[in-house]
Amino acid sequence: MTRLGILLSGRGSNFEAIADNVAAGSIDAQIAVVIGNRAEARGLEAARQRGLNAVSIPSKGLDREIYDRMLVEELHRNAVDLVCLAGFMRLLSASFIREFPNRILNIHPSLLPAFPGLDAQHQALAHGVKITGCTVHFVDEDLDAGPILIQAAVPVLNDDTVEALSERILREEHRIYSEAIRLALAGAYRVEGRRIIFC
Ligand code: GRF
Repeated sequence: MTRLGILLSGRGSNFEAIADNVAAGSIDAQIAVVIGNRAEARGLEAARQRGLNAVSIPSKGLDREIYDRMLVEELHRNAVDLVCLAGFMRLLSASFIREFPNRILNIHPSLLPAFPGLDAQHQALAHGVKITGCTVHFVDEDLDAGPILIQAAVPVLNDDTVEALSERILREEHRIYSEAIRLALAGAYRVEGRRIIFC
């Protein structure tokens, strides 16, 4: 069975949505390890409460190459096949990405390529777009840039705040991340340049 490795930095609500679907059998995989780069990450506590293998590897003050090597070792130790970034607030080095070619997923709270980077929901409101959303993509060496697996659109309402919009996007994130994992596990696609073509 495919072994998932989840990397997170904070709240972990995307992780919890994935874990619910794994527990319910609607994702045909197991969560081999949940790694947090901040010891106080709520997602790590949630993983422990679920009886999952939760590992804290603090990143503070560590050189990126050294830190990423620690991550790769922990992922390999747990025989991870597919890495899911779920609110993991760090850039990954090229050497990390080469370890898992087209086997790292990320979720971003905008319709990429619009609004990459931090505070995507704030960026969308400030720009005045009428529709934003979320994207699950494979991770390559550029920020929020790899081939897109799935997106969901979310309307921006007149009286939206960053909090209200983020909450509405988050509901879609929880839905499409699991869907993207199912698609990645099924493997019924080919990658043509930037495009993922489903068979
Ligand atoms: C989500 O909005 C995700 O798109 C972004 O970081 C946030 C993480 O939320 N990458 P959570 O920790 O999964 O609740």
